Amino acid sequence: MNTQNLTDTAKTLAANDKGLLAMDESNPTCHKRFAKLGIPQTVEARRAYRELIVTTPGLGESISGAILYDETIRQQKKDGTPFVKVLTDAGIIPGIKVDAGAKDLAGHPGEKITEGLDGLRERLLEYFQMGARFAKWRAVIAIGDGIPSRSCIEVNAHALARYAALCQEAGLVPVVEPEVLMDGDHTLERCRAATEEVLRTVFNQLNFQRALLEGMILKPNMVLPGLICPMQESVDAVADITVNCLLRTIPAAVPGIAFLSGGQSAELASARLNAMNVRFKSRLPWALAFSFARAIQQPALEIWQGKEANVQAAQQALLHRARCNRAARRGECTAALEKT
Ligand code: 13P
Repeated sequence: MNTQNLTDTAKTLAANDKGLLAMDESNPTCHKRFAKLGIPQTVEARRAYRELIVTTPGLGESISGAILYDETIRQQKKDGTPFVKVLTDAGIIPGIKVDAGAKDLAGHPGEKITEGLDGLRERLLEYFQMGARFAKWRAVIAIGDGIPSRSCIEVNAHALARYAALCQEAGLVPVVEPEVLMDGDHTLERCRAATEEVLRTVFNQLNFQRALLEGMILKPNMVLPGLICPMQESVDAVADITVNCLLRTIPAAVPGIAFLSGGQSAELASARLNAMNVRFKSRLPWALAFSFARAIQQPALEIWQGKEANVQAAQQALLHRARCNRAARRGECTAALEKT
């Protein structure tokens, strides 16, 4: 394992108040989002949309790494320039989603296990050769009646750690993403309890399987009340409970924590990240950053609508969200900035 390279890459991903742009939607997920806006669900539409993202001028000022999908890492701009080169030239480290998606967990109604370990060592080698320097694996944990079960948490944590160790062997920084979902009417406290148990189990497994904590990024959910829970706590309350949960569970050796947005609105995700940094930044051992997909892309996608004429305006919207999130890392994402 090249410890120094891994540590350097992980540090760079978390440095300078930048964050990650997740643009690794699988084709079915991408199509769902396109369909809602009447955008054709074709290879060319997916390619054109990803070209819009990677060619956004100035993106590298706020984004340290972009997470690609297997199709996307092999694609090029219309003029033939590979997306990996476009990103690298913009100072953005290319990353790759390597899990094969969350499937039903046998014997556990309502719960999922993420697959993709078979053949992973060989795929990681190929992605490294293609220029990727970090990877992502997402585990999904639902809250509901009697769930999450202990077994669901254990098997997902085990898979995340096996993935992380394989990534580091191949020279890729693993982004370890255990996502406790927002779906449901559960309380903030239930989300805290589930998130704490999940994170504790994930780090037990990472240590057990000899992952290098200095050479990884954690991508957790924020601690939030369920989407349809009648009690929706304030931005500051969410910031406090989230950071306290992380302080109890995440070793100081981890260089960066980059939140997923998970279905929060773009502005709310930024506001909550901002509050965490305003209230805690000077006292934290790790950087509190972002690795958003929807909360960076959604406004741009809605403007683009699959039309060439809208590309520039969509890029402006993308850049705006990226800048707001960089400001949120500094605790400087104000209402005035949001309106610019
Ligand atoms: P969201 O920010 O849209 O939750 O996506 C992050 C991600 O990469 C999910 O795996």
